[in-house]
Order: sequence, then structure tokens, then C-alpha cells
Amino acid sequence: MLRIGLIGTGTVGGGVIQILEQKIAEYKEKLGVELELSCICAKSEEEVAPYKAKGYKVSTNADEMIAGDDIDVLVELAGGYNMPRKWILAALESGKHVVTANKALLAKYGHEIFPLAAKKGLHVLFEAAVGGGIPIIRSVQEGFVGSTVESLSCIINGTCNYILSRMAEEGLDFDVVLKDAQKLGFAEADPTFDIEGIDSAHKTALLASLCSGKRVDFEKIHVTGISKITAQDIAFAKELGCCVKLLGIYHRDGDRVDARVHPCFVPNTNLLSNVNGVINAVYLKCDNLGETVQTGAGAGRLPTASAVVADLVSLARSTDQGSRKALPMGWFNVENSATLVP
Ligand code: HSE
Repeated sequence: MLRIGLIGTGTVGGGVIQILEQKIAEYKEKLGVELELSCICAKSEEEVAPYKAKGYKVSTNADEMIAGDDIDVLVELAGGYNMPRKWILAALESGKHVVTANKALLAKYGHEIFPLAAKKGLHVLFEAAVGGGIPIIRSVQEGFVGSTVESLSCIINGTCNYILSRMAEEGLDFDVVLKDAQKLGFAEADPTFDIEGIDSAHKTALLASLCSGKRVDFEKIHVTGISKITAQDIAFAKELGCCVKLLGIYHRDGDRVDARVHPCFVPNTNLLSNVNGVINAVYLKCDNLGETVQTGAGAGRLPTASAVVADLVSLARSTDQGSRKALPMGWFNVENSATLVP
């Protein structure tokens, strides 16, 4: 039995509860995996009340839930930096695995979190942090291990891709489409992270770290967002047979790593040019495997929640339902920083 302590009942947290309610019985029956949602934690009584009414154990004190003996894994879906950092480190210190969708936290504090997990023999899984509905983290960690990823280009922020697609399709101005994206609820709470490319940089840094096996510090990679893209830029791109996409780029350059995020003119003949709306896509070039493109929903309640639940099932399988300590995965060595191409 893998006992889950969940922090956050917002868009993604609510989606995780919904999927677990749908599928827990099926996991037991078909996969032999037993998951239990042991405690649901949120900031206020009001937020946890609907779950208490359904019979779940609830809490408004995350520290207490983490310190207790009732959970095997902390699922952190609160977002932000300070509290999640404290909670995740505390969970690892007290022998709990961690599942999170918090790319900003991992990009900034992964160098504290991953070594502690390795030292304790625990897992930190974060499929939902990059690419929403695309299992790109697992692909890089497992599916592509027979190859070396030589380069990667990705559309990894659904909000920016939605904005650029609608600007191109409908000739709309940036500000008008941004408001729609916020109304639809897939932009970050602070849209600066989306439109200035910071969210893409968090995700690109994580992918570049996994691909290179070294720590790629997101603060050191070049980032230009899309807030200054005008209807005229898009019209010029069209004249040249291109579209404008915000790309995260990774490329091995000898011992160095070229990682960056900026808007690009993408020729209409390139597969990434057809990826429109709140969709993400990752194009990879690998030595043995060759070229591959993975595409899927980039944001949103259920695609992101689905990735969180997949991590929970994977954790239950790889740790004997959470009770046995995991072997360190050795995905990348945070002590060994990548030298970036300037
Ligand atoms: N704001 C992000 C996006 C959410 O638009 O892609 C998913 O990380």
C-alpha cells in the first residue's frame, strides 16, 4: 500500500483526486498496485471541507502531515517556492518519497532536493512538471537510455503557444489573446513566467539536465519571451513561409551544453510548425534512436493530474508499494554543473 499525502486542492490537486477516485480500484485489480489517499491538505478549512464531507482525512497543517507516520509519499501541488521547498526537504528528511509538478522549484532548488533524495534512497518524481500530458521525463530517463540525446527543440509552454497560434490564425494582438489565456486558466498565476519565457526556461533546464547528465542552471540560460512579438513579426514570418514559436533548445556541443529559450521562425515544413494551441511538443535527435517527436496537451487540470497519478503508480511499482527504499536513479549529477555555451 502506498499512502499518499496531498498538498493542494486547486486545479491540478483536484484533478488528481478525481483521477484517483476513478482508478484506484482498477489499479488494484489490474496492476496489483494499492494506492490510498491518506490525507488531503490545503491552506484553509473551506478548501478541505468538500473532501472531509466525502470521508477523507484532511488537514490544514502540512508540517504535521509530513512529520506524521500516515503517509509514504508527499504529493506537492501547492506551487510557489518557499513553503514547497521546506515541505519537500522535510518529507525527504523523514523518509517520504516526493511527487511534484513544481518545475520552478526543481529548477531553482533541485540541487538541494535531488542529492537529499539520493542520500536517503528516496524518489522525487516530476513527470507533471514538464510537458503536461507528454511522458517526456520518463522517455528521457527510460525510453531513450539506449541512445544519447544530441539535441532537443521543444514547445513547452502551452500559454505561449496558444497566444502565438491565435495571433497567427486570427491576426489578434498579443494583449487580447493573453487575457483569453488567463480566463481559460492555463496561464501561470503570474503570467510573466509564461510570456517572458521563464516557465519554458525552468522546463528546458530540467530536460537539458536529464539529457546531459549534468546540472543545467536555469538562471544561466539565455531567455527571451514573447511579450514583444507583434502582429507584424508574425506577418513577416508568414511571408517567409514560417511561423513564430517559442522554443526551448538543448544541444550538446562537445563537453559543453547549449541551452536557451527564445522565439524562433519555424519553417512551415517543420513538424513543430503544425503544433498549435495549448499543445506541447518535444523534438529530439538521438544517436542510436534517430529522430522522434512527442506531442500532447501542455497544460490543464486532467493532463497534468494524469502525469502526477502516473508517477504515483510508477512509484508504487518501483518501491514495493512505497515500503522499501528506492535505489537512487542517478538521473543527473547536481554536483557536476554543465558548462554552457555563451
Ligand atoms: N503555464 C504553463 C503552460 C502550465 O502554459 O504551459 C503548465 O506548466
